[in-house]
Amino acid sequence: MLNRRGVMLAAGGVVATGASLGLPAMWMSGRGATATAQLGRSEAEQHIMRIGMVAKASPLQAAEPFTVEMPVPKVARPVSTRGDTDVYELDLRPAQVEILPGKTTQALTYGGTFIGPTIKAKSGRKVRVKYTNKLELPVNVHLHGGHVPPESDGYPMDLFAAGQSRTFDYPNQQDAATLWYHDHTHHMEAEHVYRGMHGFYLIECESEQQLRLPSGQYDVPIMLRDAHFDASGGLILDVEHPEARSTLLANGRPLPFFPVAARKYRFRLLNSSIHKIFELDLGGVEMIQIASDGGLLPEPVTRSKLTLAPAERAEIVVDFSRHAIGSKLVLSDTGAPVLRFDVTRQAADDSRVPTRLRSMPALPAPARTRRMKLAVAPSKMAYAINDLSWDPDRVDTVVQNGTTEIWEIYNADTVDSEFGGIDHTFHLHMVQFRVLDRDGRPPLPGEAGFKDTVLVRPGETLRIQATFQGWPGKYVYHCHMQEHNVAGMMAQLEIVR
Ligand code: C2O
Ligand code: CU
Repeated sequence: MLNRRGVMLAAGGVVATGASLGLPAMWMSGRGATATAQLGRSEAEQHIMRIGMVAKASPLQAAEPFTVEMPVPKVARPVSTRGDTDVYELDLRPAQVEILPGKTTQALTYGGTFIGPTIKAKSGRKVRVKYTNKLELPVNVHLHGGHVPPESDGYPMDLFAAGQSRTFDYPNQQDAATLWYHDHTHHMEAEHVYRGMHGFYLIECESEQQLRLPSGQYDVPIMLRDAHFDASGGLILDVEHPEARSTLLANGRPLPFFPVAARKYRFRLLNSSIHKIFELDLGGVEMIQIASDGGLLPEPVTRSKLTLAPAERAEIVVDFSRHAIGSKLVLSDTGAPVLRFDVTRQAADDSRVPTRLRSMPALPAPARTRRMKLAVAPSKMAYAINDLSWDPDRVDTVVQNGTTEIWEIYNADTVDSEFGGIDHTFHLHMVQFRVLDRDGRPPLPGEAGFKDTVLVRPGETLRIQATFQGWPGKYVYHCHMQEHNVAGMMAQLEIVR
């Protein structure tokens, strides 16, 4: 009988193997994946088998805590700013990066850094990015949380080959929010993201600036994720053993410290892990959540704990003025340290956290309700939505442009199922949605704003409401535990006029 890991390995084996064999095999699996996308299913299965056995390396014990400083990802500079558009150029390339102190890690990067450069956009002003693929494998780029036309969305089968460039246009006709960009190459997204194909994309707007939240150097994006290294610093991706990803990274460094001034900071937290859920706390110190995936919450929510599933964002304000110089505050994940804030200096602070942050638009009447069941497929060899695994030739859901719908998301991998309960997430492309309720109860604190990714615990049913106002074309929705969507838990949405 297959167990939970068996499902992952059977269905996601293409990821397991290339990664675990190290980089050369990874290249091979990368090329294979293109082939896989173009071939039929039985060839895909053969491909999975051909790649062969999983080589195991013993996990390196988690790094010495708080020995390296957390960097802030550099901000990308536009190559031109003309009219209503800022133009960027970004190379996708392999790079040797330092993650563990004194060791070199071979990574797949945007622009040569393990965390790609942060793109700062303004609401209402367009961004155009010319991506050049200098990797030896086909890729695409998805702007997660972006309200983007289909040809710029990074549809999983729409790849650009090694040596090619592709230009994506981002309209930024949406609220200020913390988005991120990452690879979405079907079958390879988990591995590509795991190896470094992730970066922040921030949309800012004037009305948000008028709130006088902490800004400038006091507004810090922090990408959290896990990783599994071999003794020489190489990244191991072993889907059979996600728990071996025992090294937690903040902005690409293990358990770093971050010097702060005794004032308020805004931290934009993103979980870019391909499987791990973070359960964060700051040792009892208040974290004031001000925003989620789609931007500001209607009002701030004081949190002592914060759950962050893969791809979710939470923005928090922490007031270090309540702590003496010399204080050290540890951000932990269920008791294990992640990052330490060291209060090192005084600084002026005229920022504030208003009691009202934004107003939410009224919910339009829904045209219909659909049900989305997340679970291991009936074959038990893959993951599925409504019992069907991803098939690019099948359109699962057709929605008329401009209509509003309620989707009931049900996680049928319950604790009493054969697999003992599997957490899933649900991510919808093109739009931000609202969470109406969870098992008939009000949404969790922090879910009152716009969301694009939600955690669905075993047995849970969530109702979300979305207005599909955008562009005709094909998009996807999927579990954002990327090991699950690689293994089939993804479906196709077509927006029609
Ligand atoms: Cu963050 Cu479909 O992805
Ligand atoms: Cu899942």
